[in-house]
Amino acid sequence: VSISEDNSRVTASLPTGESVEVLLFGATVLSWKTAKGKENMFVSDKAILDGSKAVRGGIPLVFPNFGPSSNKATEGLPQHGFARTAKWEYLGKSSSESSTLPNSSGDSSVKLDFGLSNTMLEKIPSEWKNYQFGITYSVTLGKDDLETSLAIRNTGEKDFEFQTLLHSYWAIDNISNVSVSGLEKVSFADKVGGGKKEESEAITVSSEVDRVYHVDPSQEIAIFEKDKPRFEFTRDMLPDVVVWNPWIEKSKTMSDLGPEDAYKRFICVETGSVRWNTLEAGDTWEGGQRIKAL
Ligand code: BG6
Repeated sequence: VSISEDNSRVTASLPTGESVEVLLFGATVLSWKTAKGKENMFVSDKAILDGSKAVRGGIPLVFPNFGPSSNKATEGLPQHGFARTAKWEYLGKSSSESSTLPNSSGDSSVKLDFGLSNTMLEKIPSEWKNYQFGITYSVTLGKDDLETSLAIRNTGEKDFEFQTLLHSYWAIDNISNVSVSGLEKVSFADKVGGGKKEESEAITVSSEVDRVYHVDPSQEIAIFEKDKPRFEFTRDMLPDVVVWNPWIEKSKTMSDLGPEDAYKRFICVETGSVRWNTLEAGDTWEGGQRIKAL
């Protein structure tokens, strides 16, 4: 396993050629390649990587609020919270070289840990300045899968409420050939047309889509391209799934999204917990996703 790190990012690769790259701003996964060099993450040509804005692509981390602030404690926080622009600390790696033990897949893997705590933030313009927390975000690269998981600790004396989401931009060849399965007959909040809706078929995209599904983590979700599975998601403690693609008109209003037809090259399937979760003083919340690239 080889690791390289500098002031701004950490890259890890396995002897078999897989790699992952994480930007310290937001602990944003910028690139995940499987062995043949196939890139699984979409990153906009115009993405801003200096922490002045969240990265338009990869896996930005939404915390402690999803969307604009919507409870009293998050009033004054930016859309999707502060974690996606904060500079995280690289805590180190643990790797397992290929094992010869029975039942082992024989494959190596590497886990990179990143940390963020309230003491690392310069200024929190909300009630959140009264909370103390420590987050460990772990990115584990395996042979054909990637795991991203969060452990959020309330290290203070006040309970707090949070929402979180792994806002992942998946690279696809053409949105017209894509469908998302596993969310059929599940009611969703429609952020485009409003209201609650349900569909009986796998999701396809031919206009702006912005939906929030609440679906048991045991339900597997998959992205298909040309009827072949491309990404398969397993979730732990993440009962919500957001499906987002801005389509043509909305893309034009996004200064950091390019080239012009970039909307064709990604679909956001974002796993998280966007109901308010209460984390009592001293408690830890853990959740994560594993994505298999096919
Ligand atoms: C999605 C939201 O998760 O993120 C959308 O459901 C939002 O409503 C999108 O437009 C992108 O947000 P941002 O802040 O990164 O432009």
